[in-house]
Amino acid sequence: MFLWGTATAAYQIEGAAREDGRGVSIWDTFAHEPGRTRDGHTGDVACDHYHRWREDVALMSGLGLNAYRFSIAWPRVLAQGRGEVNARGLDFYDRLVDALLAAGIQPVPTLFHWDLPQALEDRGGWLNRDTAAVFAEYAATVAGRLADRVPLWITLNEPFVHMAYGYAMGLHAPGHLLLTDALPAAHHQLLGHGLAVQALRAAGARQVALTNNCTPVWPASQEEADLRAAEAYDVLHNRLFNDPLLLGKYPDMSAYIPTLDFLRDGDLATIATPIDALGINYYNPTRIAAPTADGLPFADAGVTGFPTTAFGWPVVPDGLRELLTGLKARYDTALPPILITENGCSQDDVPADDGTIEDTARVAFLEGHLAAMRQAMAEGVDVRGYFAWSLLDNFEWAEGYHQRFGLVHVDFATQRRTPKRSYHWFREFLKAQNRTQNTDT
Ligand code: BGC
Repeated sequence: MFLWGTATAAYQIEGAAREDGRGVSIWDTFAHEPGRTRDGHTGDVACDHYHRWREDVALMSGLGLNAYRFSIAWPRVLAQGRGEVNARGLDFYDRLVDALLAAGIQPVPTLFHWDLPQALEDRGGWLNRDTAAVFAEYAATVAGRLADRVPLWITLNEPFVHMAYGYAMGLHAPGHLLLTDALPAAHHQLLGHGLAVQALRAAGARQVALTNNCTPVWPASQEEADLRAAEAYDVLHNRLFNDPLLLGKYPDMSAYIPTLDFLRDGDLATIATPIDALGINYYNPTRIAAPTADGLPFADAGVTGFPTTAFGWPVVPDGLRELLTGLKARYDTALPPILITENGCSQDDVPADDGTIEDTARVAFLEGHLAAMRQAMAEGVDVRGYFAWSLLDNFEWAEGYHQRFGLVHVDFATQRRTPKRSYHWFREFLKAQNRTQNTDT
């Protein structure tokens, strides 16, 4: 069955930050520090999904989805990150999983979507190797409760973005500005993934995947310096996270990373523990030029000549086809089946006087990207699912509530949910898919 879903993440939608024994996460700390997020927005309330989850499941059921990717808040399950389990936290996900199954929607939980328990950050977060083993313990705890009903698990969401924004550039929690010294945070996340795959399987999980954010890299010119910089960016954004996972080795980074002194015997074998699918989040390609003086081996030259989202990100549907066929060419038989675990766009969606939200640019975005996905499949890439980002407008990290990605509009003052034009469009699209599937069989 091809999985058709929407995706969300705990800190972006749940709210209830202090309820039922939830511990503090690095995002609670970061968002409450002055100047970290736009207008000081926090996820304290977000979409109040923790209380309104029934309504949100009903919205998904109305869409006709057969899958839903959400994330589990680690500090809701283990307030200190390890040790005493908070049963009320697990109860929440238990109820959600049952409600999804009752609605014919397959739950696809992600175990880590950036909300590390603050208690673990206080011991170094992902810079500390111990966090990898603690993550696997947490994975086992959650699977112990849910593996009987959850067929597919995702360990990490976008370890690249967490390393780059959280540890290298200081734009996301935990807010470190370490540039290329952030690399141990990549390795320990990957190690945590490998250990978690093993722990999940031991706890009875059937299928396990990891989600990487990947981007086609375009050199700004054919000049040697730009080509070299583009290659460095491809290595640091894409290959650093896919090569060890799929090939059991790191790409050559010696030109800009002097030592991999965090790497120990056996780590790569653990990281390469076989997975059942690779999750891919695609938003846009990246154009790269020779480095400027900021200590990084590349510079972002910006993609021009395409329409842009409210974020200013270029809309390049064919980039998805290019990415998928590129992965197939690079990894060939080592590439497991692919799930598009996120794809979507932010728009300035303002309700009209009659309350409707005509987000036609989002409809065009989805149409274009779904066609590109189909094209990649026709060119031989084994894609097994597509999850639109996102079900709801939500807390967009450092941008707070300013970027709206939802198929459903959320009025954050009243928590009123209003399906946008794209929601209705996606529902009709899915109906047509079902009709074709039924005719095919
Ligand atoms: C993340 C989401 C985020 C989205 C849009 C992805 O990097 O997984 O949490 O909201 O992109 O920025």
